[in-house]
Amino acid sequence: MFGEIFYPRQVVLVTAATSEKSNVTAVEWFMPVAQKPPILAISLSNSSLTLDLICTSLEFAVAVPTEKMKEQVLLCGMTSGKFIDKFAETKISTMKAKKISAPLIADAAANLECKVRYYSTQGDYTIVLGEVVEAHFSKSSDEPLLFNKGGKELFGLKKDQL
Ligand SMILES: Cc1cc2nc3c(=O)[nH]c(=O)nc-3n(C[C@H](O)[C@H](O)[C@H](O)COP(=O)(O)O)c2cc1C
Repeated sequence: MFGEIFYPRQVVLVTAATSEKSNVTAVEWFMPVAQKPPILAISLSNSSLTLDLICTSLEFAVAVPTEKMKEQVLLCGMTSGKFIDKFAETKISTMKAKKISAPLIADAAANLECKVRYYSTQGDYTIVLGEVVEAHFSKSSDEPLLFNKGGKELFGLKKDQL
């Protein structure tokens, strides 16, 4: 897999919802794209339920998980919401967003509410560009954030450990 050369990579959680269903998944293919307005990109497999929900609702949220959420993030990244309710299964606590319908992750270091500006399918993945319309930061944001070493081996890293 060509992406292997880019590890370690930070891992985030992406949530999305329609009136019928809401879901959460792990994403490490993401990047900031612009500052004014703030825009970020995520790349999702075309088979992902999260992608379907985003393309229907044109909204999503990006949550920055901490090391404590490692097991929950792994479960979110190894199962599809097509088969299980990942919120119930992981017991991840959610909170209401201000400007979008997708839930936010209560214990995350940060949550960014996004409205889709553009998406494009490229091969077996679809890149989605979202404008950040609301941002929430946790008070305990000095906790280690979550990274993937590669091979789904996650570890926490604090900024002062760099
Ligand atoms: C650490 C980690 C990072 C992941 N990053 C991505 C990613 O960037 N894009 C993606 O499409 N899938 C990624 N995955 C896989 C999806 O999370 C996985 O296919 C998931 O089952 C999709 O769930 P959904 O169908 O509920 O959306 C990642 C998995 C893990 C464990």
